[in-house]
Amino acid sequence: MCTFMMNLNPSACMKRLVNVIIILIINSTLFAQSLESPDGRLRMNFSLSEEGKPQYDLSLGTKAVIAKSSLGIRIKNRPGLDRNLLVRSTATLSHDETWKPLWGEESEIKNLYNELEVQLQQASEPGLRMVIRFRLFNDGLGFRYEFPAQPRMGHFIVEDEQTEFCMTGNHTAFWIPGDYDTQEYLYSMTPISAIESTISSRFTEIGTRKIFSSTGVQTPLLVRSADGLYFNIHEANLHNYPVMQLDFNKNALSFKAHLVPDALGNKAYAQTPFETPWRAVIVATRAIDLLASRLILNLNDPCAIEDVSWIKPKKYVGIWWEMHVGAATWNYSDSTNLKLATTDWSRLKPNGRHGATTQRTVRYIDFAAQHGFDGVLVEGWNVGWEDWYGQWKEDVFDFVTPYPDFDLAYLNRYAQEKGVRLIMHHETSSSVTNYERQLDTAFRLMKHFGYDAVKTGYVGWIIPRGEHHDGQWMVKHQLRVAAKAAENKIMINTHESHRPTGQHRTWPNWLACEAARGNEFNAWSIGNPPDHETILPFTRLMGGPMDYTPGIFQINLDHYQPGKKEKVHSTIARQLALYVTMYSPLQMAADLPESYERFPDAFQFIKDVPVDWDKSVYVEAEPGDFLTVARKAKAADQWYIGAITDENKRETSVPLTFLQPGQWYLATIYSDGDKAHFQHNPMSYTIRQFLVNSENIINIPLAPGGGCAIRIVKAESKMLKTFKKYR
Ligand code: NOJ
Ligand code: CA
Repeated sequence: MCTFMMNLNPSACMKRLVNVIIILIINSTLFAQSLESPDGRLRMNFSLSEEGKPQYDLSLGTKAVIAKSSLGIRIKNRPGLDRNLLVRSTATLSHDETWKPLWGEESEIKNLYNELEVQLQQASEPGLRMVIRFRLFNDGLGFRYEFPAQPRMGHFIVEDEQTEFCMTGNHTAFWIPGDYDTQEYLYSMTPISAIESTISSRFTEIGTRKIFSSTGVQTPLLVRSADGLYFNIHEANLHNYPVMQLDFNKNALSFKAHLVPDALGNKAYAQTPFETPWRAVIVATRAIDLLASRLILNLNDPCAIEDVSWIKPKKYVGIWWEMHVGAATWNYSDSTNLKLATTDWSRLKPNGRHGATTQRTVRYIDFAAQHGFDGVLVEGWNVGWEDWYGQWKEDVFDFVTPYPDFDLAYLNRYAQEKGVRLIMHHETSSSVTNYERQLDTAFRLMKHFGYDAVKTGYVGWIIPRGEHHDGQWMVKHQLRVAAKAAENKIMINTHESHRPTGQHRTWPNWLACEAARGNEFNAWSIGNPPDHETILPFTRLMGGPMDYTPGIFQINLDHYQPGKKEKVHSTIARQLALYVTMYSPLQMAADLPESYERFPDAFQFIKDVPVDWDKSVYVEAEPGDFLTVARKAKAADQWYIGAITDENKRETSVPLTFLQPGQWYLATIYSDGDKAHFQHNPMSYTIRQFLVNSENIINIPLAPGGGCAIRIVKAESKMLKTFKKYR
C-alpha cells in the first residue's frame, strides 16, 4: 500500500539534496525518511508508526542522542495532529550562508544545514494538514510544526504538544524546576531519574513561583551522557506561543514538551498559516563545542529593523546595588497604601534613604563620564515604590512621574552634556495591562528627554490575573514591547521575562534579559555558589545574553550593615572574569562608585573590557566545574581571557595560539592572590604584566571560587624594553 506521494518537482527544489534515504513500510512503520547533517555526522530519522503517529530519532555517529520519540500537536475540539496521519509529500534542501550579527560573540556566523519538509494530513475527516520541518546542522537538530492556510483550519487552539525527547540512558542533567513564572533557581546536577522539582528551602526567596510538576524542568536543559555526549534541549524563535518546558517521565526515560497554559488552561491561540517555535537539540562531544554553537540564532529570523545605526552595545553603572544590599531604598517615603492618581508626592515625608536622588545621580553621571561608561541606570526614580511589592495591584506605577527629589529634566541634560545617557527603568510589578496602557506615554517621555535604553521588570504575579510570565500572552507582550521600542529607537533589557530563544537576531535592540538567577541573589539570599556561573553559559545563555550584573568588588556585605550575613560567593578576580565568560552586549559595573575607587587598578579591567567581539575561543570547560574563554575585541587586535572555577581551586593553562604569530603583546593578568578564597579571603588579587606571543602558554592558578581575567594588547616598541617576557 502506498501511503504517501513524493513531491520531487525539480523546479521547486533547486537545491535538492542527495543525502536522503527513503525506506518504505518497514515492520510497523508506515513511512520513514532520514536526513544527514552536512558533515554526515548527525543523522535524524523521521517515521510514521502504524497508527500514523509521527516520530523521530537522532544520533551522532554510532551514538544515539534522542531515541525514537513522538511528535505532534493536539488541537482543542478537533481530532489531533499526532496520530492517524499520512505523508502527502516530502522535500529536502540544503542551505549554506554566512551572516553578520549586529553584535555578538563573533562577527560572522555560518548557517549550514540540510532540511527535510514532511507534509502530513489526517487520514480521515476533517483531513487537516500539518508540516513538520526538520533542519539538521553539524551541531544539532531543529524542527517545528507548521499549519498551512487550509479550508477547514483557520483559528484554532493548541490543547497540547506531544513532542518528546526520549533519552537513551539515565544521563546526568543540569536542571532547574519547571515553573510557569520564574527561572531564578540554582541548578541541580543529578541523574535524570532523580529529578525532583520540589521547592526546597534554597528557593524561598523567589517571590513568584508556580511549579507545575515534581518532574518538570526548564530549557535550555543540559544533558551529559556516560558515553561522552553533551547535548542541550531548547527552543528557538519563540514569539507567538507559550514557553516550552519539559516534564520527565521516569518509566519511559523521556522528556515531554509541557507548554505553559493561559488563565483558562489553554496552551496557545493560533490562526493559519501558523508556525510553532523551533524545537532544538544541540549536540557535541566536547562541552566547549556546545558554547560555540550558534544553532539557536540560525533558527531565528533575520533582523527586522531596517536602520540599526542607533543600536550600540553598552556598559553601564547605576543606582541599583545599593538598594539590593539595603544601603538605600527604591521608595521615597515609608508611607504605604498610597493612591497613584491622588497622592501629593511632594507632601510625603521622605525616609531619608531614597537612592535615586538628583545628587546621587549626578555622582553616578560624573563617575560614568570619568571612566568611560555609556549609561547610568536609575531605579526608584518614579513614584509608586511605596506599594509595589507582593501585591496584586493594578495601578502602581505610571512610568512618567518622578519623585520630588529626582530632577528628570536637569539630570538628562547634565548626563548628555557629559556624553552619558541615563537608562530608564520600568518596573511593571507585573501589572502588565497597566504597562501596556502607559507604554506610548512612557516611551514619549523617554524620547522627549533623550533616553535610548530601558530596563523593564516583571516582579510579582501577572495581571491579567491568572496569566503566567511564560505563557503565550506574556511572550507576545515582550515581543510587542521590543518592536515598539525599536520603532522608538530604544534598546531594552528585560528582567523577569521568559528566557531568550535567540530572538535578538531579529530584534537586536533587545540587548539582554535577566531570566535566570543573577548576581543580585548574592545580596539578599543564600546567593549563588561558584558553580552556578560555570553552568549558566551551558544552560540559560544558550538562548541569549544575560544581564547578570557582575563586577562586585565589596564582596563582604557587612560593609553596608553590621552583621549582614549575605555575601558574594566570589573573589574580586572572578568578578572580572565574568565579563568574558558570561557574554552580553550589555554589561553592568554593578558595584558602587565608592567600591571601584578603592580598587582602581582592578577596576581598570572593567573599563577596558569590550562588550562586542570578532571571535570567541572556548579554551576549556566542564559545566559545574570550570570555564575558560578567550575573545577578540571587535575590530581591534586585542584579546581578553576569562577563567573561572567552582568551589575547588584549579590550575589552568591557556595556549595563546590565537595571537598573530611573530607579534609581541602586553598581557595584563588579574589573578587571585596567593591565599585568596571566595569565602575567607575574597578580596585578595594580584596584577602582573608580561610580554607574550603566540607561542606562550599562560598558566593561571585559580583560588577556590576564584577566577582570572587577562587583557592582551599589541605591545608598543617602548614596552619591549620595559616589560619582562612571560615564562
Ligand atoms: C528585580 C530585578 O531583577 C532587579 O534588577 C531590580 O532591581 C528589581 N527587580 C526592582 O525592579
Ligand atoms: Ca530578577
